[in-house]
Amino acid sequence: MEAEIQTIEKDALAAIAEAGDEQALDAVRVAVLGKKGRLTQAASGMRDLSAEEKPRLGQVLNAARQAITTAIDERRAGLEGDADRKSVKGMDVTLPGRAASRGGVHPLTLVEDRAIGILRRMGFALATGPEIETEWHCFDALNTPADHPARNESDTFYFDSGKLLRTHTSSVQIRTMETQAPPVRIVAPGSAFRRDEIDATHLSVFNQLEGLYVAREVTLADLKGTLEFFFHAFYGESTEVRFRPHFFPFTEPSFEIDVKLEITGKEAKWIEVAGCGMVDPAVFEAVSGTRGDDAYDPDGVTGFAFGMGLDRLAMIEFGISDIRHLVENDVRFLSQFS
Ligand code: PHE
Repeated sequence: MEAEIQTIEKDALAAIAEAGDEQALDAVRVAVLGKKGRLTQAASGMRDLSAEEKPRLGQVLNAARQAITTAIDERRAGLEGDADRKSVKGMDVTLPGRAASRGGVHPLTLVEDRAIGILRRMGFALATGPEIETEWHCFDALNTPADHPARNESDTFYFDSGKLLRTHTSSVQIRTMETQAPPVRIVAPGSAFRRDEIDATHLSVFNQLEGLYVAREVTLADLKGTLEFFFHAFYGESTEVRFRPHFFPFTEPSFEIDVKLEITGKEAKWIEVAGCGMVDPAVFEAVSGTRGDDAYDPDGVTGFAFGMGLDRLAMIEFGISDIRHLVENDVRFLSQFS
């Protein structure tokens, strides 16, 4: 039996040395060490040995198994090395790799973050509301009657349910006041939607930043001071800011805000950047109706609101000539801002 084991070992080692690939090597392993392999079969002969012979032959058998296993492992490592060397043949593996390109922050997000940062330092907290709105939150509660042109089918995207895509972020003013008692001081960024003809300055989806401050004795001076501070922080201390009388249904008095900006190489121009005004008492009355309390009693609280176009701010900030660049996701455009 000892001789048989030695023959098996010798044959196995020869076959291992000859195996040309991993598959052939595995076949040798099965043929020798597998359940029906030669060495396994020889081992079953141990049963018939005498008690004196058993230990010694057991050792011989183990030594053979060990030698064969080691040879298989070494051969496998050798074959893997050969395969690796073959796959990089003719390739200079010391060349630097191709670096993955890094993403960057979108120009809209850049201006949004900066604008929110300034307002947060003045105590405005972040607020949000849904893009699919009720007519109540988008219009009625904002003192915008049913026959107002902004509510026309040709200006607004309506759903069959009667809901609509909000035409401005002012709906967040109502949602905030319905759920939070004054004082409230919020800033609400988000998308707004209008059926605009698409061109270099209009898209049917755009982005606004809404602000609302309601408390006791908030005055027009607070509105002016806050927004002048904001635009000075945003465009620079020496930037001129002017408030031009305007009309919005939900503020009274109302203004549009212009800032005087130089677009490189050209004469400075007044550019409209925001709408604002003192919250109309009719808005407080609408909110009081839903709340069923007098937290927003128009005789007790006053406030101001403002809304600005973030796309506009980004276009001015970076000298972007066409608003469509902001949504086209062209990496050649976007990589300029990161
Ligand atoms: N919602 C107005 C618009 O979209 C802007 C605005 C907000 C005006 C708040 C006054 C107060 O044009």
